[in-house]
Amino acid sequence: MQIPNYKEAKKRERKVFQIEEFQLEKEWEHLGDNKTYFIKTYGCQMNEHDTENIKAILEKLGFQESSNWEESDLILLNTCSIRENAHNKAYGMLGRIKHLKESRPDILVGVCGCMAQEEGVVSQIQEKYKFVNFVFGTHNLYDLPKVLYQSGKTHHQEIEVLPKEEKLVEGFPVKRESKHKAFVNIIYGCDKFCTYCIVPYTRGSQRSRHKEDILREVEQLVKDGYQEVTLLGQNVNAYGKDLYEDYTMENLLEDVAKTNIPRVRFMTSHPWDFTDGMIDVIAKYDNIMNAVHLPVQSGSSKVLKQMGRRYTKEDYLTLFSKMKEKIPNVAISTDIIVGFPTEEEEDFQETLDLVKTCQFDNAYSFVFSPREGTPACKFENKTSEEEKNQRLYRLNEELNKYFLKSNEKLLGKTVKVLVDGVNPTNKTALYGYTESNKLVNFDGSIDCIGKIVSVKITDSKTWSLDGTIVDE
Ligand code: SAH
Ligand code: SF4
Ligand code: F3S
Repeated sequence: MQIPNYKEAKKRERKVFQIEEFQLEKEWEHLGDNKTYFIKTYGCQMNEHDTENIKAILEKLGFQESSNWEESDLILLNTCSIRENAHNKAYGMLGRIKHLKESRPDILVGVCGCMAQEEGVVSQIQEKYKFVNFVFGTHNLYDLPKVLYQSGKTHHQEIEVLPKEEKLVEGFPVKRESKHKAFVNIIYGCDKFCTYCIVPYTRGSQRSRHKEDILREVEQLVKDGYQEVTLLGQNVNAYGKDLYEDYTMENLLEDVAKTNIPRVRFMTSHPWDFTDGMIDVIAKYDNIMNAVHLPVQSGSSKVLKQMGRRYTKEDYLTLFSKMKEKIPNVAISTDIIVGFPTEEEEDFQETLDLVKTCQFDNAYSFVFSPREGTPACKFENKTSEEEKNQRLYRLNEELNKYFLKSNEKLLGKTVKVLVDGVNPTNKTALYGYTESNKLVNFDGSIDCIGKIVSVKITDSKTWSLDGTIVDE
């Protein structure tokens, strides 16, 4: 048994991680024959992509995917730690599973993802959620078959969470959600340690994948007919810094663009490492999408400093203007936290001012959630919960105006849309995303799914656009 340990998780040392190929041992085969599995995924794209790997591993063991959690033989929760809300959802689901296990005691229940890397969560599972059969962490997805096998043999709760990352594993099998859009990891972990954030503890040190492995994966996706790739990392701009002397995100973006995959996206970018070179590469290649997610978090330099973000409001605005100037029609989206412990009304006003200046195309806004083990969790809180919720409301009112404004600019224009699928709320309409990452609903034949089509925008709303397909 190994359990998480924050003291270890916090350490950072400069080292190049050894690479190993994913392997399945003979004795693990057939573990899942005639059994079904269900995975519930919380959190970010990184977790979604881990789920794609986990599904493929389970299917190699013989399991089959089920869409009904109550009927499946294995239920796995791939969890997220980012805010209290994410915790509550996972604990709520565990409560429901506990109930189910009373009538179906033989089902297997597993917990993985970021919560599995939290000291406090694992001790809770050991004490209060004894029905959970196994837990593994974000650093050792490859141990899933081993923990499954062992928990079947010992009938004890198996906990195998590495306190610290040990190696880079390549060659994971993958069952991709989409046949035309793919996630590709380029860098794991995060070394930024923003004072509010749990990710550096749950995802470990910054580790870049080797460029050859990334490019091989993208080239294969091109051969398989994929239209879009999203390069993933908590801070993609730091790509290469831990591995190469002179190969950075700028070079990787260019090499990925040269594979001729029709659409390249990347997320997330920390403003700190966003270089002029990167801006030039995005502007130069038509297949690098003109949409950048650039989390600002706050408009107050005082709060930014206490958040440990390493830039001031002015630095952010300079970078923002440079992007607007150099990348044609760039859409910039952001993340904002309100109610940080030291945020006062005038700091919040500065955030509102920044929103008015930047007029973001899209944004995600959150109320600060204290995370156990992070420095900001111990900062003295200056604002009541009611006031924080008020600020979130006021912020959203402001943000929404600009989403609508940005969508209205597209009225009457013809834009390229990668068709994702049939709209679940309206069976006759298709939906897809523009190059600038805006959601468009339109009528069309299902043959269009997975293709890039031209759509004339006929109506604009706050969160989506309507249009009609045009022949070009
Ligand atoms: N790596 C990305 C962010 C990943 S987390 C970056 O640095 O930009 C996604 C978003 O969750 C963050 O941008 C932040 O806005 C929000 N977030 C992170 N920790 C939070 C916390 N403790 N409370 C509220 N929001 C938080
Ligand atoms: Fe968290 Fe900051 Fe790292 Fe983003 S850059 S994952 S907010 S610590
Ligand atoms: Fe959540 Fe972990 Fe992602 S904390 S946001 S799932 S990296």
